[in-house]
Amino acid sequence: MSWTGFDLLAPHYFWLEYFSFGGLLRRTRAALLPNLAGCRRVLILGEGDGRFLEAFLLANPTAMVDCLDLSPGMTSLALARIKKIPAAESRVHFHLGDARQWNFPQAHYDLLVANFFLDCFCQPELAQLLERLAIALAPGGKLLVGDFHWPEGRLARAPARLALNLMYGFFKLFTGISAGKLVDPGPGLQALGFTRARQVDFLGGFLRSSLWSGKG
Ligand SMILES: C[S@@+](CC[C@H](N)C(=O)[O-])C[C@H]1O[C@@H](n2cnc3c(N)ncnc32)[C@H](O)[C@@H]1O
Repeated sequence: MSWTGFDLLAPHYFWLEYFSFGGLLRRTRAALLPNLAGCRRVLILGEGDGRFLEAFLLANPTAMVDCLDLSPGMTSLALARIKKIPAAESRVHFHLGDARQWNFPQAHYDLLVANFFLDCFCQPELAQLLERLAIALAPGGKLLVGDFHWPEGRLARAPARLALNLMYGFFKLFTGISAGKLVDPGPGLQALGFTRARQVDFLGGFLRSSLWSGKG
C-alpha cells in the first residue's frame, strides 16, 4: 500500500482534533456505543488511529472486527492502541485498502461503522459506496455513522459553513479526498432501505451520531 496524505496527518490527528473540537468528536463517536451490544461481525471503515476501535472492543468482548483503512500510518496507530487490550489482536483483522475498490463480502456484517469517513467522498463516490455497504450488511444489520452535519438552525449555519470550508480546504490539500463539500448520506441510505433508529446531536446539530437499521 502506498503512502497517503492521511499518513502525514496520522501522528498529529489526535491533537489537531482536540485543538479544534475538544472532546466533542470523541463524544460523537461514542454516543451510541451502548446501542451496539450484541453485534458480532463488525466492519469499521476508515477507523483512523483506533480510538473508536479501542472503546468498541472494551465494550464488546466477543465481537470480531474487520478494520479497513487506506492509511498504513493510521493503521499502525490503531494496532499499537489495541495491543494494550488483552486478546484484542486475535479479534481484529486490519485491512489496508481503498473502500471504493475493496471486495466487500456479501450480507456478512451485522454492524458497519463509519465515523468521520463518509464525509471524505464526493456525491457520486458516496452513492456507489453506500450501495456496496448495503450489500455487505446482513439482513437486519446496523450502520453507525458519526459525522459532521448541516445544522438546521439558521444561526448555527454560518459558523458551520466557515468550519466546513476550512476543514475541506485543509483535508483536500493534505489528503486529496474527493469531497469538496459535505454530502448528507441520509437520503442515499433511505433510498437503499435504511431507516434511522437513533440519533444524537452535539454543537446544535453540527455533529451527529446516527444509528441506521438496514433492510430486515
Ligand atoms: C477523517 S479520518 C477519520 C478517522 C476516524 N474514523 C475518526 O473518527 O476520526 C478518515 C479516515 O479514513 C481513511 N480513508 C480515507 N479515504 C479512504 C478510503 N477511500 N478507503 C479507506 N479508508 C479511507 C483515512 O486513512 C482516515 O483514517
